[in-house]
Amino acid sequence: MKRILSGMQPTGQLHLGNYFGALKNWVGLQGSYECFHCIVDWHALTSAYEDSSRVSDNCMLVAADWLAAGLDPQRSVIFVQSHVPEHAELHLLLSMVTPVSWLERVPTYKEKQQEIQGKDLSTYGFLGYPVLQAADIILYKAECVPVGEDQVPHLELAREITRRFNGFYGKIFPEPQALLSAMPRLRGTDGRKMSKSYNNSILMAEAAADLDKKVRPMMTDPRRKRRTDPGEPEDCPVFDLHKVFTQDEKRSEVAHLCRTAGFGCLDCKKILLDRMHPVIGPMRERREEWMAHPERIKEVLRDGAQRAGQVARATMTEVRDAMGLLRP
Ligand code: TRP
Ligand code: SF4
Repeated sequence: MKRILSGMQPTGQLHLGNYFGALKNWVGLQGSYECFHCIVDWHALTSAYEDSSRVSDNCMLVAADWLAAGLDPQRSVIFVQSHVPEHAELHLLLSMVTPVSWLERVPTYKEKQQEIQGKDLSTYGFLGYPVLQAADIILYKAECVPVGEDQVPHLELAREITRRFNGFYGKIFPEPQALLSAMPRLRGTDGRKMSKSYNNSILMAEAAADLDKKVRPMMTDPRRKRRTDPGEPEDCPVFDLHKVFTQDEKRSEVAHLCRTAGFGCLDCKKILLDRMHPVIGPMRERREEWMAHPERIKEVLRDGAQRAGQVARATMTEVRDAMGLLRP
């Protein structure tokens, strides 16, 4: 089986955007690939360095959601980046061969700096974010990286760094390939992109009552002011959710009823909620079971770090030799 590695920042409890954009794909890849999944706490520090007090709790929350979504610790290696210090060592060595101009050219670099107001992101660590990501991947000689469209520039850079490294020191690493997964557009309850920082997200393990409370007042196509006004589903964040929760046939019917003002938005949301509860409910229950036993989550992460560490240590021995460093 080919090996894959993917990472996710510990942002806290995951929302439906995280689930349908990444996690659900990862769950489906188990069995077809040897899977490594890394909670990238050092990447979180590249922008949250001033107040890092939530990073450790957030790692536990993300791990619980991964397990609740169906990542199976028997089949997938689930671990925290900082528990395998070889990520930092490889990051350092890759930084030797990475021209600063390559990093400044990454489109997300200047964008994120401008987007995230009130944080000084003119740091060495933030500039090096993609170098750390490259290290995450090639440390395991992963051939494929399941990511969404948004990560393509980072992956392209990882391939370039790998090529340059291999050029100097011999062909140690395979060039990692993106395993592109469809990233459905999921707008949040207010119609903007679903994001934790906008406070408009629906959690993957949302409580049943909160799910109703969030969906019922959700923004819809503004054209449907009255029950008799027809709407356009493509312009409605509720319909984004139908696209991931409602079967094709029923979804076509919903779209038709919207366009013909055949039903009201509350009816439409009711149909959606009937489909969301049976998906979210079991994930919430599994999450609650894991959260009731944090020591079991810790055990999974320790076992994951142990298995990841074995691979990582073997790679680093090879890397140090290839670069001509003195063996101790
Ligand atoms: N940059 C990725 C993101 O924001 C997270 C990440 C870090 C990652 N290391 C990785 C993804 C390695 C894939 C592989 O989503
Ligand atoms: Fe959105 Fe449904 Fe209302 Fe159409 S009927 S605008 S899809 S909530």
